Amino acid sequence: MLTNDPFWYKDAIIYQVSIRSFFDSNGDGNGDIPGLTQKLDYISWLGANTIWLLPFYQSPLKDGGYDISDFRQVHPDFGTIDDFQIFLDEAHKRGIRVITELILNHTSDQHFWFQEARKDRNSPYRDYYVWSDTDARYSDARIIFTDTERSNWTWDHDAGQYFWHRFFSHQPDLNYDNPCVQQEMKDILAFWFDMGVDGMRLDAVPYLYEREGTNCENLPETHAFLKELRSFLDENWENRLFLAEANQWPDDVRPYFGDGDECHMAYHFPVMPRLYIALRKEQRRPIVDILCQTPDIPPSCQWCMFLRNHDELTLEMVSDDERDYLYNEYARDPRMRINIGIRRRLAPLLDNSRRRIELMNALLFSLPGTPIIYYGDEIGMGDNIYLGDRDAVRTPMQWSGDRNAGFSRCDPQALCQPIVRDPIYPYEAVNVETQERLPTSLLWWMKRAMAVRNEYPVFGRGSIRFLHPENESILAFLREDADSRILVIANMSRFAQATTVDLSEFAGLYPVDLFGRVAFPEITEYPYQFTFGPHNFFWFELRSVD
Ligand code: NOJ
Repeated sequence: MLTNDPFWYKDAIIYQVSIRSFFDSNGDGNGDIPGLTQKLDYISWLGANTIWLLPFYQSPLKDGGYDISDFRQVHPDFGTIDDFQIFLDEAHKRGIRVITELILNHTSDQHFWFQEARKDRNSPYRDYYVWSDTDARYSDARIIFTDTERSNWTWDHDAGQYFWHRFFSHQPDLNYDNPCVQQEMKDILAFWFDMGVDGMRLDAVPYLYEREGTNCENLPETHAFLKELRSFLDENWENRLFLAEANQWPDDVRPYFGDGDECHMAYHFPVMPRLYIALRKEQRRPIVDILCQTPDIPPSCQWCMFLRNHDELTLEMVSDDERDYLYNEYARDPRMRINIGIRRRLAPLLDNSRRRIELMNALLFSLPGTPIIYYGDEIGMGDNIYLGDRDAVRTPMQWSGDRNAGFSRCDPQALCQPIVRDPIYPYEAVNVETQERLPTSLLWWMKRAMAVRNEYPVFGRGSIRFLHPENESILAFLREDADSRILVIANMSRFAQATTVDLSEFAGLYPVDLFGRVAFPEITEYPYQFTFGPHNFFWFELRSVD
């Protein structure tokens, strides 16, 4: 059963799922909603208490379902609306909450509204989209899908005008200056919240409005509309959530929280690439700097943290030098790059190093915010950079060493995506069943780390304070609330390291390792000495010992 806590998202561990790639219950080669329902016990066993679902609506699926042709229909490959209701109820029975996608910014060009709009200038739907006789307007807006799109305008022969799109040219942007569009979106939101979904990820939210002379991002009109949407939410439903997808600098994301009257959560995009920089440079600085530059957010709000997701590892929120560095270190092969980012999964990014994977996840789980795990990263799945677009990281979940990695009973040729065959990440070994049998597997490590995190709400709710050990490879910070005080200390270097840390304010207490419950020597007023193996980390509770 679900708790009745309006701030549940602060204690969440989110497991991100692509239904299409998760589990195929009917053997047609596509993952589906009943398949996901069958795997709820696995997600719960792992320790996640929230699921974020990629879009599963009616769609031509030219952008992983972010190209919606009917907002209220489930894509027939994935099941029915009844299947979704069953899934939701079953998730709730297990205390798992569900976040779905609200794609506000655009539709597919196959959507009825666009089909009507392009046919007839006088159609009431014409004004649902943004049209122009020239492609010169809003020229300060950047292109996001740089590998595929040349312009944000595309000529529509039937309409006899250009239409505006921030993403693919088959995804026309909706016109938020039209009150009918605003109302449609409220109705769609109501449809899904009435069914019982717990939260909505607001896709591509900075781009709702266009204004000449601006970069058409984060405009005041967008924030005004979001505040209205939030009031609508608060007036009608309890304990629900908006999660803003705003790939922006912290100062530009901050307004999406408003005064606690806009979005409850937003992704922290800039911290993510800096975790990878810090790891490769073996320096704590990139992480400390970006978090120190991050403004405070209202008490009811929360950052969302992630290492990977279904998109490329985006490199928009780094400097040119940092971007070159990351491409060089993490994506030498041009096939690993797409748009402004890197299309690889966590394990391949980290050269399949168990120590690095554990360290990065330990940071994900202990830095302030709510962590998201991308499906398959808990078993260290590989990727396939020979697939198109971002499909490299969207291959089927590997459940067992059976045919199709236990994902589907179909003819292997009928699979929605091929199973990863990379010999470094063979599905015969990299799968849930095998790792469940092996107590030393990554899967069991992830389960234990999540159990510890779930036991200490301070990770989700506490404050953060950085310490400054003289060894620059050592990242150290305190997470504190009224009940506990955790010292997180990590060696970013691939070599053994030693350092002292000034812990004198805690003299008389003991660092107790949260994994093994082992007490380290008493803290005194003298500098405390730590030694680390390569990429070692500790989560210590600082407390008295009886
Ligand atoms: C962000 C989504 O994460 C991405 O997958 C999609 O292509 C764009 N929004 C456009 O909807």
